[in-house]
Amino acid sequence: LRIVVMVSGGGTNLQAIIDGVKDGTISNTEIAGVISNNRNAYALERARINGIANICVSPKEYVSRESFNEELLKTVDAFSPDLIVLAGFLVVIPPKMTAKYANRMINIHPSLIPSFCGTGFYGLKVHEAALARGVKVAGATVHFVDEGTDTGPILLQKAVEVLPEDTPEILQRRVMEQAEWKILPQAIDLIANGKVKVEDKKTVII
Ligand code: GRF
Repeated sequence: LRIVVMVSGGGTNLQAIIDGVKDGTISNTEIAGVISNNRNAYALERARINGIANICVSPKEYVSRESFNEELLKTVDAFSPDLIVLAGFLVVIPPKMTAKYANRMINIHPSLIPSFCGTGFYGLKVHEAALARGVKVAGATVHFVDEGTDTGPILLQKAVEVLPEDTPEILQRRVMEQAEWKILPQAIDLIANGKVKVEDKKTVII
């Protein structure tokens, strides 16, 4: 399975994928490239360190969102991926790209969807809202990307406990370590081994 990983920040989910391919927990998979919208994303450095092709396509460098969207899709297509993995990618995916890669693009979201998801719910905001609501469990979700925000078919979820002393940062770290970095590699491995079907907007793992 040829994958392209799209990132915006530190790249700890990308690192989990790199490690998983190396140690075999992600089988039959090759990371063809890493694409970021942020020139300073440490995720790009992680790609460089691991000899993985990497490129930055920054909206700031385009006169319009349309020209950025076109360049982004061209850049993705150039890697001819079987699967696109959004790993902390904070730019809205152009509708043309979502349509072209229907059921071939997954995203990791740091909550148990449908809680705390949709526009505006990213990064620490998700955990601030969870703590404000007083939830006793939090977690992460891997889902296929459709035209909405965090609305596509859910593939894997993993819950973590919320502790009384938790701050948003502490909870975020626990969700990343105990949920995101586990289910994202697992999702890629399932897809790479033909174990996932999508039927009327729900996933079936065979
Ligand atoms: C984190 O908030 C994570 O929960 C979400 O994207 C952000 C950055 O993750 N998936 P990463 O370290 O860049 O993978």
